[in-house]
Amino acid sequence: MQPARPCLAIVLAAGEGTRMKSRRPKVLHQVAGRSLIGHALASVSQAGADAVAVVISSERPEVGEEARRLVPHAEIAVQHERRGTAHAALAAKAAIAAGHDDVIVAFADTPLVRPETFSALRAALTGGAAVAVLGFEARDPTGYGRLVEQDGRLEAIVEHKDATPGQRAITLCNAGLMALSGRHALSILEAIGDDNAQREFYLTDAVAVARARGLEAVVLRAPESEVQGVNDRAQLAAAEAEFQRRKRLAVMLGGATLIAPETVFFSYDTEIGGDVVIEPNVVFGPGVRVDDGAVIHAFSHLEGATVGAGASVGPYGRLRPGARLAEKAKVGNFVEVKAADIGPGAKVNHLTYIGDAAIGAGANIGAGTITCNYDGFAKSRTTIGEGAFIGSNSALVAPVTIGAGAYVGSGSVVTRDVAPDALAVGRARQIERQGWAKSFREAAAARKAAKKAAE
Ligand code: UD1
Ligand code: MG
Repeated sequence: MQPARPCLAIVLAAGEGTRMKSRRPKVLHQVAGRSLIGHALASVSQAGADAVAVVISSERPEVGEEARRLVPHAEIAVQHERRGTAHAALAAKAAIAAGHDDVIVAFADTPLVRPETFSALRAALTGGAAVAVLGFEARDPTGYGRLVEQDGRLEAIVEHKDATPGQRAITLCNAGLMALSGRHALSILEAIGDDNAQREFYLTDAVAVARARGLEAVVLRAPESEVQGVNDRAQLAAAEAEFQRRKRLAVMLGGATLIAPETVFFSYDTEIGGDVVIEPNVVFGPGVRVDDGAVIHAFSHLEGATVGAGASVGPYGRLRPGARLAEKAKVGNFVEVKAADIGPGAKVNHLTYIGDAAIGAGANIGAGTITCNYDGFAKSRTTIGEGAFIGSNSALVAPVTIGAGAYVGSGSVVTRDVAPDALAVGRARQIERQGWAKSFREAAAARKAAKKAAE
């Protein structure tokens, strides 16, 4: 096997993003539960970038913090003045000078570029190009840089504002991302000037600089949907829609059934096994894994949870972080589970809250059971043994342990541990008065008749 070529990814994130109308930096807005910059970082890492430099503006240190949280070895470079994409890339000069075979430049606000696309740009460098750029056929090319080809060769990229009417007629546009051969990257970037309509240092001029030196520049094409950037909330929603479209497709081709795919929303990291069935209107927050053969019924919401093989959730199930359903466990309608293990084959079928708990295999939790896990200050645990049976409408006041095989009578408030195989009943004893209802009715009827007669 060939040794991996060292690769640096420069992720440009010094953008202002004022069109988001947000206090939050644009690239920290999320698609499918992950920040825009998180998507860009994941993609370049999967494409083999072993070094990462993130260029941020000095006003937005939180962007650097997010990058370091996701990629602890990332170098954070600050672009003090916004003077163009090449100027931004050069903020990472020290990282470029460290020497890598490949340098890729990605935009933090362009979250849908697949790792395969970055890999293809790198492969073009291996094939001898000094610069490889990503192009797309724009439905509306206004605003984009145009790829100027001559005799099938890329000669230059001309920014919309600098383009002649003839060049503006070109629909093949620059997606913005590119790969530069590490050997030439620094000298090419340093040769770029700001002699243009915007007085900016354009990364795109890397093409003309390389061609002037007799180096080769190539274009790879991507669908427009892959290179769409995010500048406002409508584009954020468009990026979300595209991400969901791809993820639904991947889940279905992976062997799961989605009855109405357009109504199911995944997170960037949702893992769905084979022969899983997901009914309409289900939402997955981050951190969910669903194993083979499980069924997620309609209108369920899951986050930070695992669903074992053959288990079922919902309809109207809610799994919060730390919910772990073992194989064939059942969590039914209007049931909320948080930080709890539901053992193999255990059933929690109706109208129940299970939090900070462990439920043994085959236990049956009756309708309306509540684990009272919080006293306003601390959370406490409830442990329910294998095969235990909790009668409906019981309140289990944690910390408390119900032994294996024990019964809890319906409507109990259980405040003390219950021994294995015991019966616990914690409710007022039932009393009965013979004939009470009949005499009550007769007395009430007599009063009503007397009142009517007096009128
Ligand atoms: C850029 C490309 C254009 C391409 C388009 C695709 C250049 C000169 N032009 O134009 O050819 O068609 O993207 O969307 O590269 N940034 C900084 N510092 C700066 C300037 C930009 O960090 O000084 C970052 C931005 O945060 C953003 C990216 O670079 O992530 C692109 O900048 P932007 O201003 O959006 O470039 P465009 O004019 O859209
Ligand atoms: Mg832009």
